[in-house]
Amino acid sequence: MSVAVKTTPKKDLYALGEVPDLGHVPEQMLAQVIRQDRFGEPVDAFREEPVPVPELGPKDVLVYVLAAGVNYNNVWAAMGIPIDVIKTRQKKGEKEEFHIGGSDASGVVWAVGKEVTNVKVGDEVVVHCGMWDPNDPWVVAGKDPMFAPSQIIWGYESNWGSFAQFTKVQSHQCLPKPAHLTWEEAAAYMLVGATAYRMLHGWSPNVATAGEPVLVWGGAGGLGSMALQICRAAGALPIAVVSGEDKIEYCKKLGAVGVIDRRKFDHWGKLPRWSDELSYGEWLVGARAFGKAFWEALGAKKNPTIVFEHPGETTLPTSTFVCETGGMVVICAGTTGYNATLDLRYLWMRQKRLQGSHFANDDQARGINDLVIAGKVDPCLSRTFGFDGTGECHQLMRDNKHPSGNMAILVNAPRPGLRTLDEVRAERRK
Ligand SMILES: NC(=O)c1ccc[n+]([C@@H]2O[C@H](COP(=O)([O-])OP(=O)(O)OC[C@H]3O[C@@H](n4cnc5c(N)ncnc54)[C@H](OP(=O)(O)O)[C@@H]3O)[C@@H](O)[C@H]2O)c1
Repeated sequence: MSVAVKTTPKKDLYALGEVPDLGHVPEQMLAQVIRQDRFGEPVDAFREEPVPVPELGPKDVLVYVLAAGVNYNNVWAAMGIPIDVIKTRQKKGEKEEFHIGGSDASGVVWAVGKEVTNVKVGDEVVVHCGMWDPNDPWVVAGKDPMFAPSQIIWGYESNWGSFAQFTKVQSHQCLPKPAHLTWEEAAAYMLVGATAYRMLHGWSPNVATAGEPVLVWGGAGGLGSMALQICRAAGALPIAVVSGEDKIEYCKKLGAVGVIDRRKFDHWGKLPRWSDELSYGEWLVGARAFGKAFWEALGAKKNPTIVFEHPGETTLPTSTFVCETGGMVVICAGTTGYNATLDLRYLWMRQKRLQGSHFANDDQARGINDLVIAGKVDPCLSRTFGFDGTGECHQLMRDNKHPSGNMAILVNAPRPGLRTLDEVRAERRK
């Protein structure tokens, strides 16, 4: 039921949770800002500051942010490694001396550029983080924009992310907010969900299909929790890898048909040189034992036809070893290190594919959003923070002390549990 809207006095800057009249854009907004002189531990790098509300181009949309999702990329942005995102943008001609991170959002369309047709002011949306120049010849030709030279990640490589009262996005990034979710749940899944969707459905013919065994590293993590559910929805048979008893039931509830505790193995890390028979032999014993644990968890002597990779350096030798002949190791990160090793003999003789994958295109983002709308994928929101907890939740992530699943930050939403802008307004009037 819609509630009558009272007019709010127009201001240049609104307090958090104060709702301007629909479509009224103030001069300034509050943001959790990173500056170069604060690069370092995330808990110290973010600070609330008033900044100007960004101007829109013809295909841009200004979203009033109700909640933001938390991802690893802004741990890197806060630390200033491996790149200084501010300097990188300045080299491209942008003038801002700060970074507003945040690559996941739920909110309300507040203003649109003059060429925007797919959304209108007042639409309740979630935002995916794939950005590209709409005039890029690659994009104009209708090719996958994730391969376009102009492709960047909103709220990491771009400024004006979701850790602010308003965020500037391109219109194609906006998708309908699943009505059954709270603002914070809706902000939690898109980046990891769409990334996992492309990894599992984007690399034909190696796609997750009914009856296919899939190995999912970090099954209780952000990416892993999405991967398990996407596999379940496709009828595939995901086996999760975790560290810790407490994560086993969690993964099973998300669709894992079996779970392996990686702490039972110690062959991790870079592959020993093949000519060093002793240490290579020891590694092989560990990798074979892990392969056997996969069969036991699956309940059948079958290898994974897809290995869902992101830890990188410590796990890639094992991933490429256990992958089925003609199967695919698909990788989107190197959380434990980038200098991965593998025994190429297994790759070429068994004709396996090692496939890099990065975020998702519009169709793939819509693919995961439809699964969420249909109730087949849960956002796995585990903890919600206030706006002033932006540094804290990124620090937990950096220290690998964050809870299973995904985290979110309330931006303009005054409390957890609200699902519409009307409910936010009603809460303000209490
Ligand atoms: N390219 C892209 O588009 C893209 C998109 C999203 C995320 N990423 C990247 O992907 C990585 C994971 O993101 P996330 O959101 O899933 O993070 P997350 O929630 O922290 O989950 C990562 C999981 O990795 C597992 N892990 C940690 N150390 C490990 C090790 N030494 N060996 C095996 N597993 C280990 C942990 O599970 P256990 O300890 O239980 O095993 C953890 O749950 C990050 O580096 C992120 O930046 C990339």
